Amino acid sequence: MFDRVLISKEEIDKKVKEISAQISKDYEGLNPVFICIMKGSMFFTADLLRYLTIPAQLDFMCVSSYGSSTESSGILKIKTDLASDIEGKHVIIVEDIIDSGNTLYNLKNLLATRNPASVKICAFLDKPDRRLREVAVDYVGYAIPDEFVVGYGLDYNEDFRTLPDVRILSRSVYEK
Ligand code: PRP
Repeated sequence: MFDRVLISKEEIDKKVKEISAQISKDYEGLNPVFICIMKGSMFFTADLLRYLTIPAQLDFMCVSSYGSSTESSGILKIKTDLASDIEGKHVIIVEDIIDSGNTLYNLKNLLATRNPASVKICAFLDKPDRRLREVAVDYVGYAIPDEFVVGYGLDYNEDFRTLPDVRILSRSVYEK
């Protein structure tokens, strides 16, 4: 089923603490609003926010560029929008992974039209080899190779999100 564990639970925990400490330093006094992009980012967002040492707000968006395919369609579908108004706020978009970059490119542009004070991106995983759109990622956990990864929020057809670590899914699973 899995080729190997790519990032262990312990490594994840250490990295999330580091990113959280950096954001806490950078956003001191700014009361940022974190936007958790569902569903993949829910585990990372929850862990990240738990380690913050500054006050912050939380909102959610449910978007998709994929449908049931494994290739990004490039078109952003908003399934559930934010509950709050981000005008004048310092926004941090939290993603589990940036792949083609389509989702974050379109999302950042969309949120910028709502007049926030700033918009930055925090992604736990980055697959730079797959990038189709230039997107500046301000906080990143790990750059990873172009493998199909699951766990820590990442799914294959909605399975494996609940694994505590990040694993490489065997080709035999998704190429059958
Ligand atoms: C995944 C991931 C990002 C996006 C990244 O979401 O959470 O939102 O794909 O890919 P991109 O850089 O090629 O746009 P997905 O649409 O699979 O939804 P999910 O978070 O509910 O799993």
